[in-house]
Amino acid sequence: MAGSTLEIKDLHVEIEGNEILKGVNLTIKGGEFHAVMGPNGTGKSTLASAIMGHPKFEVTKGSVHLDGEDVLEMEVDERAKAGLFLAMQYPSEISGVTNSDFLRSSINAKREEGNEIPLMQFIKTMDENLDFLDIDKDMAQRYLNDGFSGGEKKRNEILQLMMLEPAIAILDEIDSGLDIDALKVVSEGINKMRSENFGCLIITHYQRLLNYITPDHVHVMMQGRVVKSGGPELAQRLESEGYEWIKEELGIEDETVGQ
Ligand SMILES: Nc1ncnc2c1ncn2[C@@H]1O[C@H](COP(=O)(O)OP(=O)(O)OP(=O)(O)O)[C@@H](O)[C@H]1O
Ligand SMILES: [Mg+2]
Repeated sequence: MAGSTLEIKDLHVEIEGNEILKGVNLTIKGGEFHAVMGPNGTGKSTLASAIMGHPKFEVTKGSVHLDGEDVLEMEVDERAKAGLFLAMQYPSEISGVTNSDFLRSSINAKREEGNEIPLMQFIKTMDENLDFLDIDKDMAQRYLNDGFSGGEKKRNEILQLMMLEPAIAILDEIDSGLDIDALKVVSEGINKMRSENFGCLIITHYQRLLNYITPDHVHVMMQGRVVKSGGPELAQRLESEGYEWIKEELGIEDETVGQ
């Protein structure tokens, strides 16, 4: 089976009456890695949350389709079931649910009833991925993200990614707060996912992540839109020159979404 396609067209999103996204266009196909960069407060996390269906964000115009299916019509759990995955900039802590139970129910929620993942297979895959990501085995039995350090949370997001094998993943600042070794491990996890059946949108501020994960496309967001796209060389130029040249080129004074 060929990979999935996530197609975002002219997406406008409001929060409490303020328009944050002002017409985002972006298409991510299986096999492709896209990096989304841009100054603080330009709508990157809003884009991620809106695609995943965060109730605070109201889509007022435009569309999001996954393989032709209208994502905006789906409930949040249906979006996950359809193959979308979001690693949040600030993962929530869920007390009372162990990491392991959470993962197993998430996997089973995506499978047909009666076709649940066999427990032994789950444990084996989980152990392999814990090893690969160099995560302490005890973490599996701890409550989800409860008391996890910043870096542990990010590693754990990648554990979820590797266990759930989504068609399209959105990773919001997966590199923030990671030490140098963890950055490598997390990047290796993401790279291991690379296949025709996996597309990824990586929101990041730093070229250093893109030294490990080579993006096929790089996009810059300003004022709630994608204002520039290019290849990996665009991220390199941003690293050395910052954003000022883009603002000058496009005549943008205030890059934030403004009010
Ligand atoms: N829940 C919310 N309520 C009110 N305003 C919000 C909310 N979420 C986002 N915003 C506003 O929307 C704008 C864009 O925020 P967003 O989090 O999308 O930026 P970002 O590009 O991800 O920035 P950063 O690089 O700092 O993470 C900001 O001005 C922010 O204050
Ligand atoms: Mg953000």
